[in-house]
Amino acid sequence: MMVPVFFRFSVLRFAFLFVLLFSCGSEESTKHAQYVAEGYSLFQTHCANCHQRDGKGLGNLYPAISVDYLKDKAKVICWIKNGVNQSVTVNGKTFNRPMPANPSLKELEIAEIMTYMYTTWGKESKIITTESVQKALEQCVSN
Ligand code: HEC
Repeated sequence: MMVPVFFRFSVLRFAFLFVLLFSCGSEESTKHAQYVAEGYSLFQTHCANCHQRDGKGLGNLYPAISVDYLKDKAKVICWIKNGVNQSVTVNGKTFNRPMPANPSLKELEIAEIMTYMYTTWGKESKIITTESVQKALEQCVSN
């Protein structure tokens, strides 16, 4: 007997959903939530003095965390670890103060801060891995 077309499609769709659910399922999202939670508290400790708790920056002194500057992940990773001193323009304001280095932050901690920032301001939902942080750090150039 021929299986009705409609039925075959729905089975396929179900199978597809099944694969989706179990390939990036709850374990991954729990880990993502942990990174975001850790990253949030690290951000409050190491970054919020200047960028403020909500990331909106402080007047003409410190820039808001900006999607434009988040585009280049490797660069942001290097800035967090090594600091930066160059001219930065966010929301039409130019900032020239140095951002200090964070030599004591571990790769995992940087990955957590990155994941928190990109989930919050970069609208991403994936973990930024320790491996990708390590790779970026190996290639930092002095700025
Ligand atoms: C002492 C103040 C200070 C602290 C602490 C600080 N920053 Fe910054 N940050 C700055 C300044 C100033 C700039 C602009 C740098 C420049 O002009 O060279 C900047 C720039 C940035 C930028 C790029 C521009 C933007 O606003 O999007 C990002 C991203 C960033 N900081 C993230 C962080 C993160 C993450 C931390 C914590 C690990 C941190 N900063 C800690 C002062 C600070």
